[in-house]
Amino acid sequence: MNKISISLMCADYKRLGEQVEKLNDFTDMYHFDFMDGNYVPNLSLNFDMIESLNDVMTKPVNVHLMVVNPEDYLDKLIELDVDSVSFHLDTISNKAFRLLKKLKENGIEVGVVLNPSEKADSLEHLFNLIDFVTVMTVDPGFAGQSFIPEMLNKIKELDEIRKEKNLDFEIEVDGSVNETTIDRLYEAGADIYILGSSGFFSKGETIEEAAENANKYIPFR
Ligand code: DX5
Ligand code: ZN
Repeated sequence: MNKISISLMCADYKRLGEQVEKLNDFTDMYHFDFMDGNYVPNLSLNFDMIESLNDVMTKPVNVHLMVVNPEDYLDKLIELDVDSVSFHLDTISNKAFRLLKKLKENGIEVGVVLNPSEKADSLEHLFNLIDFVTVMTVDPGFAGQSFIPEMLNKIKELDEIRKEKNLDFEIEVDGSVNETTIDRLYEAGADIYILGSSGFFSKGETIEEAAENANKYIPFR
């Protein structure tokens, strides 16, 4: 099933609760970018924000960990009862099974994120365990970057792999998903679309206006 995930790092922080109340009707899930200033040279959302918004959000919460030590975050994410967690492949290479299983045992879905330089087949050993793969269509760390068109082939490859192997992981795309890129991503086989600064929050519109415009360009709405 195709889904929209709203990247709250791109929302207006001074009106976050109010915006989330309105987003509940539009989005299928929420995307929380966690950064440690080390894996990527930026900081973004955090545990307290999820805690504050947990009462307001009526859709599933996904946390994208752009951090060097993802293991340090798991107990708190379990406590916060998030719905899914996305790990960068290069941050879990020596502990992937331990980390992913810990979350699965706590009823949390798991995904692995591929940076632009990482190949689809590098996930071969994990395909049976993961619920989704996130293809970064920009370098991780910042909103508002340019789309990398070479990533379309990676999405197609992942789609072929899951058909061939009869797997049911979902394919998510993160980075510069907007009116000019979404049709190509859709044709390539992506399922979950993260909308951030370019696809949703960019134009100084109200949430209602942004949702109405997005519903016009999203091919499955
Ligand atoms: C990039 C973030 C994305 C980003 C998406 O590291 O994970 O969530 O904010 O927004 P745009 O459309 O600005 O690329
Ligand atoms: Zn993200």
